[in-house]
Amino acid sequence: MLNKISTPFTEILDIRYPIIMAPMFLVTNELMCIEAARMGIAPCIPALNWRTPELMRQGIRNIKKKANIIGVNLITNSSNIYYKKHLEICVEEGVDFVITSLGSPKEVIEKCKPKNIKVFCDVIDVAYAKKCEELGADALIAVSQEAGGHFGPIPARELIALLKSHTNLPIISAGGIGSGQGIWERIHQDQVIAVSIGSIFIASEEAPISQEYKQACVDYKAEDIVTTTKISGSPLSVINTDYVKKIGTEQNLIEKWLSKSKRLKKYVKMFTMYMGMRKVQKAAFSATYQNVWVAGKSIDFIHSIRKVSDIIAQLIEEYENYNKKNSALKQQN
Ligand SMILES: Cc1cc2nc3c(=O)[nH]c(=O)nc-3n(C[C@H](O)[C@H](O)[C@H](O)COP(=O)(O)O)c2cc1C
Repeated sequence: MLNKISTPFTEILDIRYPIIMAPMFLVTNELMCIEAARMGIAPCIPALNWRTPELMRQGIRNIKKKANIIGVNLITNSSNIYYKKHLEICVEEGVDFVITSLGSPKEVIEKCKPKNIKVFCDVIDVAYAKKCEELGADALIAVSQEAGGHFGPIPARELIALLKSHTNLPIISAGGIGSGQGIWERIHQDQVIAVSIGSIFIASEEAPISQEYKQACVDYKAEDIVTTTKISGSPLSVINTDYVKKIGTEQNLIEKWLSKSKRLKKYVKMFTMYMGMRKVQKAAFSATYQNVWVAGKSIDFIHSIRKVSDIIAQLIEEYENYNKKNSALKQQN
């Protein structure tokens, strides 16, 4: 095994490398988490990837039997009908950390802190980051413009700098990272405590999704990633397949009008999300012409379908080489 990369993140969680295998709806599964933990990074799985809360409880137990660390991603707003149960299970089963997305992290922080479960909050701007700090979050995940899935409006470096100047919390950077050099730059230049990496793990052998989805991540490039609001009502990064081209990436006039109506907004959003996610789910697991494949621009770093352990080993090796190169340059100057 290569040298440990120490940051406050690796010390808090007692792991070798300051990397989170980011939670990915429909993609992350138990096996990927076990492999990621075995390789010394911190895996995080969306609670919604288990069909029911009871399967989630069993799944966490399965992972804990084979892995020394597990994080769970909780959607904390009303679109997650299981939210309360998900939180209860995280606390009862004693996961190591929770990543909150979408709604307020207040209740998660209140329930997790006494159990020493760390809470990292996804944020896309300063206003929300300040709220999370006031509530007592342990760290902020800066979800940048470069991120796969639902992304933020601000480029990574700018967002990190903003969060650093307006809050005192440690920052984890998410978005656009797919190489050891990328990890090195965020940790050494932007001074984050860890990075959260998603898209490059879509094309892993262990992922439970269709071969077509994985191969698309190999074949398509960053310029093929487009933003669509058609699927969930919020900007989502997807591969520009023929089907995405056919249905377009913007809501039509009626959808836009309905989403603006004060009275209907909430229901329209829930309906759009439900229908969109059904499409994403169908495309993720079966061969269909209706291909809506969620992925970020970092698919540029994918050249073949590989084991999770090989993907991680390459990241660490590249990091070490880049670090050595930089130390040598520093000594010369
Ligand atoms: C296919 C896919 C599904 C995702 N699902 C979730 C999710 O369920 N919850 C969440 O908080 N973030 C989700 N994300 C965002 C990731 O957790 C992470 O922020 C992002 O992948 C980082 O950018 P990268 O893809 O460039 O590495 C998803 C991203 C992708 C690509």
